[in-house]
Amino acid sequence: MAVRKLIDRVYEVGAIDWHRQLFDDLIPLHEGTSYNSYLVIGTDKIALIDAVDPKFKDTLLENLVSLNVKNIDYIICNHAEQDHSGAIPYILNNYPNAKVVTNQKCKQLLMDLLLIPENKFIIIEDRQTLSLGNFTLEFIFFPWVHWPETFLTYLKEERILFTCDLFGSHVANSDLFAKDTLEIYNGAIRYFAEIMYPFRKNINANFNKITELPLNIIAPSHGPVYNKPEIILSLYKDWISEKLSNKVIIAYVSMHGSIEKISNFLIKELTESFIKVIPFNLTYVDIGYLATELIDTPTFILAAPAVLNGVHPYAIYASYLVNLLRPEIKYLGIIGSYGWGSKLIEQIQSIFTNIKPELLPNIMIKGYPKENDFEKLKEFVSLIKEKHKNLGIY
Ligand code: FEO
Repeated sequence: MAVRKLIDRVYEVGAIDWHRQLFDDLIPLHEGTSYNSYLVIGTDKIALIDAVDPKFKDTLLENLVSLNVKNIDYIICNHAEQDHSGAIPYILNNYPNAKVVTNQKCKQLLMDLLLIPENKFIIIEDRQTLSLGNFTLEFIFFPWVHWPETFLTYLKEERILFTCDLFGSHVANSDLFAKDTLEIYNGAIRYFAEIMYPFRKNINANFNKITELPLNIIAPSHGPVYNKPEIILSLYKDWISEKLSNKVIIAYVSMHGSIEKISNFLIKELTESFIKVIPFNLTYVDIGYLATELIDTPTFILAAPAVLNGVHPYAIYASYLVNLLRPEIKYLGIIGSYGWGSKLIEQIQSIFTNIKPELLPNIMIKGYPKENDFEKLKEFVSLIKEKHKNLGIY
């Protein structure tokens, strides 16, 4: 693995996980990821900002050895999740003088998760500073990006903000700095949707803590580093704005073709009504893409058949996931297909406990859809058009 230089005396010493395919055993990764760890070499003290996933602890150590680092004074832990903290016990074993610098909440988590002894910690408060000699680190509490303990570390003299998960991307790339807007956008929006979107209100509430800082570089702990911070800041400003588009998501699963026929009809009617439609076949769905499309979608339609008097399990999974992500959806439509009775509408409705979208009239179709069913679907689309007009997005 390689050491990557940000500026004089500041290095990225973490690891690139080129082939990781799943994060948290849940989120598909298409481009691998990285666990960026930063070494800041002050004239008096040396700080390591975040560590790496424990699987890459040897890589981190090798990088430190390659820089001839004989002593580490501080390990700054911005976030206790193991993909950044997991190697800390190993680094403490190899650099026994080091102290873990973090806040009280993070300390407790690290003691619980990694069994780090209490005497290894230095506890910091919001806006506290730490001198490394020529460099000063300032700690800016920024909870819920992505756990309650998270904070950011600002290298004042060089105007570098180390943000850990915030502004990250699950992208493995040997280039340290992001090159252009498109490259930044593709990795960052998916990551935002999967990891940060449920916390958008927290990010919004604290965003001025970042925008008021003079910034040369934003250095997250996943994916590229931004030496044009205004690009990622502008993207985030848009994503956390909760602005809605004239869009409908249709998440569907079909066993014998009825639901597929309905979905295709809806796609045609919505398209011809000048409403953008994003269909997801739940049999093949990539949940990252679904999460990404939820960011600005006001209307979510779930269409599924009955199975054994209940609803198809894929519809349950999709509903549960959407409910977890707490999107801004304003309208929920449920369409079912059945043969002899089902409680699928009630089952799906009962999952949406975190969000309370207005329910559009349910449509239950017995067997294959018939002429009167298509009439109902046309009315359904007309209603969506009216609702979007009322939202001012049509
Ligand atoms: Fe990259 Fe919340 O850990």
